[in-house]
Amino acid sequence: MTDDRTPSAVAADGFPTGSGGHDPEALRQRALDALLTARARTTVLTDSVDEGELTAQHSPLMSPLVWDLAHIGNQEEQWLLRAVGGREALRPEIDGLYDAFEHPRAARPSLPLLAPAEARTYASDVRGRALDILEAAPLHEGGRPLERAGFAFGMIAQHEQQHDETMLITHQLRSGPAALTAPAPPDPTDAVSLPAEVLVPGGPFTMGTSAEPWALDNERPAHRREVAAFHLDTAPVTCGAYRRFMADGGYTDPRWWAPEGWDMVREHALDAPLFWHRDGGQWLRRRFGVTEPVPDDEPVLHVSWYEADAYARWAGRRLPTEAEWEKAARHDPASGRSLRYPWGDTDPTPGQANLGQRHLRPARAGSYPAGRAPSGAGQLIGDVWEWTSSDFLPYPGFVAFPYREYSEVFFGPGHKVLRGGSFAVDQVACRGTFRNWDLPVRRQIFSGFRTARDA
Ligand code: AVJ
Ligand code: FE
Repeated sequence: MTDDRTPSAVAADGFPTGSGGHDPEALRQRALDALLTARARTTVLTDSVDEGELTAQHSPLMSPLVWDLAHIGNQEEQWLLRAVGGREALRPEIDGLYDAFEHPRAARPSLPLLAPAEARTYASDVRGRALDILEAAPLHEGGRPLERAGFAFGMIAQHEQQHDETMLITHQLRSGPAALTAPAPPDPTDAVSLPAEVLVPGGPFTMGTSAEPWALDNERPAHRREVAAFHLDTAPVTCGAYRRFMADGGYTDPRWWAPEGWDMVREHALDAPLFWHRDGGQWLRRRFGVTEPVPDDEPVLHVSWYEADAYARWAGRRLPTEAEWEKAARHDPASGRSLRYPWGDTDPTPGQANLGQRHLRPARAGSYPAGRAPSGAGQLIGDVWEWTSSDFLPYPGFVAFPYREYSEVFFGPGHKVLRGGSFAVDQVACRGTFRNWDLPVRRQIFSGFRTARDA
């Protein structure tokens, strides 16, 4: 499964030639579990508010929740029922409504969308058929590319989880009392003794993957990258550190800002991360319907790429490149290999990373010692998405699969890469190679950052 061990099971396009060295029956079970986990979460997110809130638009940046729900069902229908199963369309007339490229988010509330009850029935009708198809699908060597190693099923589970994170962002943007609750993350045990930064020695490492069965097209193929020595923050930048930037006039001094970032600050009169407000001498934040003091030792959340970039410049540092981030997260100097996760090749446990909406916020900086990478850096997986300095670009040898609109149409200088995943991403859609991207002005996403400097 690891990239350096099974090169013979990898085709030139970077996709596993067979089951990628996995047992097809284990993958079938894994796909079933991933689909059921995603649907349980979708149900929590859509059953926790009433019909009016499901169909309302809580922010022009977001779809109504009921759009996400039917879109989840529609993507599953297109890929699992029609493409894999060869079935006829259940409701061909609705495809256009749920095509993300046909209608921008702001226009979605005025479409003749399925009502909540219809959307629920549609999604569950699709799911029943998808599970029948999964039961009989040949996931083994020599099968069709979509079915090999259960790729389409893993892709659809990831798609649903990605929309679950999107729906959680909508929950964060809605006003009114809390609809969701979750326990606080565990407290760090040895945060005070952690060094502020780690040194990652120079040299090549393996970036991306050709062997991970459900890695998406933009993570492929595995390739060697040279990375010069650099220092990286051990943990994400905290709210307390970010407040020092604010108190030092961070938002009023154009020296720290990229020109477009400075334009954004002035146009929107920004003076703090999204969801923060000043109350007398104190900074408060609103988090899922609860107003509370900003915690100094928690990773800062809801900052744009421009804010992260400005903070780093103020601190005399810079954002890490995407390759630096991945090397710090995956490269194991002892074996020379790249790991699936910072801690090794095994799937995340609750003791290693804050994932899957188990908690509704990041854990304090210095948490999850069991999740640290060989580099010594921690909290690379989970907690907050981390902005990198890099534009979202294809790796050498990239092949769009199975559709250009997943990744390819977003490649270019307009989108910046985020790595590592937040508390709101499920493990099926998070790994050392996983790449997320967004516009540099976006701040409603669960985004934070850490900083770097040349060695
Ligand atoms: C990878 C998170 C940027 O939400 O726009 C969902 C994921 N792609 N449906 C997004 C996605 C198609 C995508 N991101
Ligand atoms: Fe989608």
